[in-house]
Amino acid sequence: MKKNLDWENIGFAYRPTDSRFVSMYTDGKWDEGAMIADPNVTISESSGVFQYAQTCFEGMKAYTTEDGHTVIFRPDLNAERMMTSCERLCLPVYPKEKFVDAVVRTVRANLDWVPPYGSGASLYIRPFMIGYSPVLGVSAAKDAMFRVFVSPVGPYFKGGIRPLKLKVSEYDRAAPRGTGDVKAGLNYAMSLHAIEQAHHESYDENMYLDSATRTKVEETGGANFLFVTRDGTVVTPKSPTILPSITRRSLMVVAKDYLGLKCEEREVPFAELPEMAECGLCGTAAVISPVGSVVDGDRTYTFDTSADNMGPTVRKLYETLTGIQMGRIPAPEGWICRVD
Ligand code: PLP
Ligand code: COI
Repeated sequence: MKKNLDWENIGFAYRPTDSRFVSMYTDGKWDEGAMIADPNVTISESSGVFQYAQTCFEGMKAYTTEDGHTVIFRPDLNAERMMTSCERLCLPVYPKEKFVDAVVRTVRANLDWVPPYGSGASLYIRPFMIGYSPVLGVSAAKDAMFRVFVSPVGPYFKGGIRPLKLKVSEYDRAAPRGTGDVKAGLNYAMSLHAIEQAHHESYDENMYLDSATRTKVEETGGANFLFVTRDGTVVTPKSPTILPSITRRSLMVVAKDYLGLKCEEREVPFAELPEMAECGLCGTAAVISPVGSVVDGDRTYTFDTSADNMGPTVRKLYETLTGIQMGRIPAPEGWICRVD
């Protein structure tokens, strides 16, 4: 039976559920893994994760579709991205099929926590890996733990769909040839001070620029950008130092194949902002969240949010993507992974 939660108002927060998947890497191999009940982890004080931030994670969602099934959106791409993150962080790769299987098992074991269709909420899935064994000199831990937990969540930004206010951060997110293109915990640790400061100044998020020249739009702390030009072209920044968002890659397919829009993935000079009619943030947590304004010192750039708090094209993208995820619109082959 579904849990008795106020699904419309759960917010985006950790809520431990009944079961999680855990697998250990020791003596150079992964064990079978198992579903367990304990949400806590007991670990050496000198583990790789504690000392040198040796950890990476993933994020995806499960939804209840219109016809009552539970589905996961493109978990195979999260599996592939986590393999890249692990390689970069000297963590052992968790094989793709096993990753998808672990995610499916975790959702199946927590079906009562999957928010109902139409509630606006979904089940956030958080796979992650840590360097488990102790280290003291700077080195990779020999042993690792892979874990998948889930948590029912509502919209990422408080207040649901509303025009967001962003600030051009004075801090940088990722160095050239650094770790910006993988989902390493360290990328988020360094963004905490910047996001706390932005929130304190009543901004919703930071816009990061490329750290080499500070002339190009990169991404926010937790989502990629998508712009719509005045002539209706969908533009998304191309950069080797941003996370390759699965939502953004999916939205570009939606824009091109479902909506027949012209699409460009290219460098986006910050100086081009006045040319952009609409702006959105895309990610698993953000889905596609409308941006109303970006503030850079004493200059403010504003975007169209006239279609019920979103730009008209951003709204079409939002409706189509969520329609595909909730089973109202046929999905491209392989996008939807059915769990029940
Ligand atoms: N960029 C950053 C820094 C993120 O943390 C995320 C969240 O996962 C994204 C982009 C969006 O990626 P995805 O659409 O795969 O969730
Ligand atoms: C996600 O969208 O899955 C993320 O990891 C973003 C995070 C800031 C919650």
